[in-house]
Amino acid sequence: MEKKAKVERLEELREQSKLGGGKARIEKQHEKGKLSARERIDLLLDKGSFEEIDAFVTHRSSAFGLDKQKFLGDGVVTGYGKIHTKPVYVFSQDFTVFGGSLSETHAEKICKIMDLALKNGVPVIGLNDSGGARIQEGVSSLGGYAEVFWRNSMASGVIPQISAIMGPCAGGAVYSPALTDFIYMVENTSYMFVTGPNVVKTVTHEEVTSEELGGASTHNSKSGVAHFATANDAVCLRDIRKLMSYIPQNCEEKVSVIEPKDPDAAKAKALIDIVPLNPNKPYDIKDVIEGIVDKESFYEVHKDYAENIVVGFARIGGRSVGIVANQPLAMAGVLDINSSKKGARFVRFCDAFNIPLVVFEDVPGFLPGTDQEWGGIIKDGAKLLYAFCEATVPKMTVITRKAYGGAYDVMNSKHIRADYNVAWPTAEIAVMGSKGAVEIIFRKEIMAAGDKEGKQKELEAQYTEEFAHPYRAAARGFIDDVIMPEETREKLIKALEISQHKVDAVPKKKHDNLPL
Ligand code: HXC
Repeated sequence: MEKKAKVERLEELREQSKLGGGKARIEKQHEKGKLSARERIDLLLDKGSFEEIDAFVTHRSSAFGLDKQKFLGDGVVTGYGKIHTKPVYVFSQDFTVFGGSLSETHAEKICKIMDLALKNGVPVIGLNDSGGARIQEGVSSLGGYAEVFWRNSMASGVIPQISAIMGPCAGGAVYSPALTDFIYMVENTSYMFVTGPNVVKTVTHEEVTSEELGGASTHNSKSGVAHFATANDAVCLRDIRKLMSYIPQNCEEKVSVIEPKDPDAAKAKALIDIVPLNPNKPYDIKDVIEGIVDKESFYEVHKDYAENIVVGFARIGGRSVGIVANQPLAMAGVLDINSSKKGARFVRFCDAFNIPLVVFEDVPGFLPGTDQEWGGIIKDGAKLLYAFCEATVPKMTVITRKAYGGAYDVMNSKHIRADYNVAWPTAEIAVMGSKGAVEIIFRKEIMAAGDKEGKQKELEAQYTEEFAHPYRAAARGFIDDVIMPEETREKLIKALEISQHKVDAVPKKKHDNLPL
């Protein structure tokens, strides 16, 4: 073959590879409101930065006439590129080739970039659009999945792993994302389920749509499997770029510090009056966060799940931090099973990747009741406690109002090795609220009184005077200072700066035994 023909052959093969399952199938993707695998990569990465690997790989199967259906790339586009100039590895499944299903070779392509990512200390982003195991390949594709799962587990805590669900993902296609750090879903076009509606109907006789069973809203609000719901493919990819701006490349790297921005001026000014005098009146903890962090830097994670705790990334003085905050607007900010699990997972991610933790605390305690006790609040609450205990990143806590009972200990208290703990003058640090306390410790006195209600009120006032303030905790050194709300930002900037080279470690062990 002469040289020109060789060049033409290469160009022809590249063109063929780019088309995946062909123009008609790409058109079908577009009709469903979905982008193609390559269009997605283009939007995700810095312009022109993508370098493809394995564009000429094909499957090796011959069962069910597969030898006559080969597509270059075998249903997944893999390679590396940059986001905000920092390298990432990426795979993007191509639904136009056998529904993006995972064959042995498709899995090998994903495994190749995962191995490189781990060796090079670079994050991996997976854009998933897959019908699961390639049915015609049987156990070979199951083996392929297990190879991916093993790598997900080995890479966990070493490099960030981000998953986007951008189409129907069934069977094995959901377990790799479940092993990664964050899951994005696209509303109305993405689904995640272990078994789809037809199997559900056969086995449990339940009639359920794909959307109800495993759509973005289900997994973002009901199951908590997904962390972000996005309006369409383009928004999803833009948001992943945003997320990447907060997190280091690997567990050895420190967080980035960029040019600081003053917080939203109106929100900063409102801090002074934000906590109502009536302890039963709610306020929005997100207003507190936004009054303190760099303007427009707060990026909430798991927004629609367990709204009684708020978690997310932000910058304070230009430095990336992970925020964990009780939300008085939802169930008075109480800790329950779901909020404990949500908080614990986020704290562990931040600790794994050296992201300092900033806690805003207004918590009346753990939620009582049979639902919670029988559901395992003891072990799930322990997850959050455990996560804060084992975290060795710089840890700060600002108590805005209630810090009651066990929840006081759990929410990043001094006793579990937080570095900087402060309270606002509105803080109440005690075993419980005055009403509950008085009913227990003065039950006999109240029963004996002529005016029971009056006696109770009198004792409550006495208890409030004695305990519902931050000064007993300050007297013991359990908090480092009592500060004004408007001073909080500057104090946190200084505390984050002084602890930026913090050295701390947990005792040598094979691995921990988090209460699962
Ligand atoms: C091979 C597949 C496939 C698969 C889809 N296709 N899934 N080919 N293996 N798993 C092919 C279809 O045959 C079709 O090819 C094309 O992809 C598009 O699929 P459609 O069904 O036309 O698309 P749609 O109506 O959008 O439905 C998408 C879907 C559905 C919901 C994903 O295809 C589906 O239910 N697929 C099977 C899901 C599943 O049960 N997978 C196996 C899970 S077991 P043509 O040529 O007709 O266009 C598993 C085990 C791993 O994953 C466990 C590890 C823990």
